[in-house]
Amino acid sequence: KAFSNTTGFITGGASGIGLAMARELGRRGMQVMLADIEARVLDSSVETLRSEGIEAHGTVLDVGDPDAYARVAEETLTTLGKVNFLFNNAGVGTLSPAGQTPIRDWQWVVNVNLLGVAYGVEYFLPSMQALDEPCHVMNTASLAGHVANAGFGPYNATKFAVVGYSESLRQELAQSNIGVSVLCPAWIKTRIAESGRNHPDARRAADAQSGMNPIAELIEAEGLPVDTLIQRAIDAMAEGTFYVFTHPDFRPMVEERLERVRADYNKLP
Ligand code: NAI
Repeated sequence: KAFSNTTGFITGGASGIGLAMARELGRRGMQVMLADIEARVLDSSVETLRSEGIEAHGTVLDVGDPDAYARVAEETLTTLGKVNFLFNNAGVGTLSPAGQTPIRDWQWVVNVNLLGVAYGVEYFLPSMQALDEPCHVMNTASLAGHVANAGFGPYNATKFAVVGYSESLRQELAQSNIGVSVLCPAWIKTRIAESGRNHPDARRAADAQSGMNPIAELIEAEGLPVDTLIQRAIDAMAEGTFYVFTHPDFRPMVEERLERVRADYNKLP
């Protein structure tokens, strides 16, 4: 099996993209630690993976809590012995107009989507650098890290940031044993539109969730099944592909943005 004797730490591993990644890599021999804020879903996902013959473990973690993350990283290195693959995948979304976005929503989205990624790298990178084995960091950004849309201020801000951060990381680690890639999917059928379920301010949970109803409909209508992106993501790691795009239909949106950047740059005398 291609991933025998390797280990992976997957945030947001209890459902959606993280769980699908854990399952596929687990089938290929990787020992996986799923980290997730939803304890019950996490338990049942770990149990299911084990029943499928996958070496899976679970740990409850809010990736936006640096102290908790430090503890979990240490415990994980003890349990697994090492971490070869780090999937900074946990993420949440909101939809609301600028000027009407609660500050708590901003803080939540930035904590999870951006700082959660940074904490993962800070806590795991030194041990990966000390390993004499191939390692990889895959950050789940989004196509929303390349193209912005009205109403997605905090989400776009954090996903563009994850793309920028990943570009920096890639340069730093170019000559190392650690590969870097950034996953940039468009709509995938997961529970992302129900992100509000994990809002730290219980009073905001219902509103944050219902605010995403238009997205739930979009995903229902246009989302790709999660499994379609997993093979692409795994191939990308093997090939050393950095930007991992998964939705060919969205290419014109990316081209159009690049064109607008070029056009404004051309206005310089
Ligand atoms: P999902 O909601 O199905 O799964 C996300 C997982 O992250 C859940 O298990 C949730 O409990 C966990 N989580 C949420 N907050 C957390 C926290 N503070 N600490 C630890 N775990 C936490 O959604 P999905 O789609 O699987 O999301 C995974 C990543 O994919 C996110 O970063 C999302 O932004 C990104 N993405 C999703 C797209 C989609 O259309 N579904 C498109 C592009 C990117």
